[in-house]
Amino acid sequence: VPLAAAETVTSLTILGGADKVGEPETVDLTLRPGEVVAIVGPTGSGKSRLLADIECLAQGDTPSGRRVLINGAEPDPALRFAPLRPLIAQLTQSMTFVVDLSVGEFVALHAEARLGEVSSEIVGRVIAAANRLAGERFGPGTALTQLSGGQSRALMIADTALLGAAPVVLIDEIENAGIDRRKALELLVEKEKIVLMSTHDPILALLGQRRLVIRNGAIAAVIETSARERQTLEQLQRVDSALMDLRHRLRQGERVEHPLTW
Ligand SMILES: Nc1ncnc2c1ncn2[C@@H]1O[C@H](COP(=O)(O)OP(=O)(O)O)[C@@H](O)[C@H]1O
Ligand SMILES: [Mg+2]
Repeated sequence: VPLAAAETVTSLTILGGADKVGEPETVDLTLRPGEVVAIVGPTGSGKSRLLADIECLAQGDTPSGRRVLINGAEPDPALRFAPLRPLIAQLTQSMTFVVDLSVGEFVALHAEARLGEVSSEIVGRVIAAANRLAGERFGPGTALTQLSGGQSRALMIADTALLGAAPVVLIDEIENAGIDRRKALELLVEKEKIVLMSTHDPILALLGQRRLVIRNGAIAAVIETSARERQTLEQLQRVDSALMDLRHRLRQGERVEHPLTW
């Protein structure tokens, strides 16, 4: 039975293949809606490969030999090779808009395509959500091509969360994206998506309930975020917001002579 609707995905399973030298990857990992999983590891270790395996619903036919199951079973081949893969949305650092539309027109077009109708209410909700993620505000009349990198990504994330059908969202290193990363994840989780994100950012790594440690092309460990690590995360977030505040004040032309507090 081909899966079409978002509601039908209750689990995503990754079955291990082999690392870069052919040693077996002993992994059988099942993820469920509302879960955020971080993917950590040095550059070149295979984080993007893992995301690509999920994106194409690999069946032992990629360099890693991994297999990906949906709801415990091999997905219908029609689903794998459909031009629009309805299950998976991918967000990357380098996405920008090139179409000659306003933000409002773009969101309305997508709402119409997805829901069959447009209301100014849903368009407003997507733009408001994007504005909560981006540093500088924009409105429905702003041209897509005028959006900054951070604003573009904020709009894409809000659009994926609120209008996207895909139950699985893959995020490849968006740390320097100029958006509020914690809020972006919260928005996706609230919509019951399965979120996998590769990252070098300690805050994002600890925001996941689990993190997959990639070494030499394989998942070498699965680490559950502990209660103490969540305390570390809170501390990191205070440091982060102190830095953001400092950055803001410098940009406003202020002096920053008093020491940071967090
Ligand atoms: N299990 C694997 N078997 C074979 N090649 C792999 C495997 N995992 C990753 N690679 C290859 O290693 C290279 C680096 O992986 P990549 O995913 O780009 O690393 P990262 O995103 O962590 O920087 C890529 O060419 C990728 O295809
Ligand atoms: Mg990569």
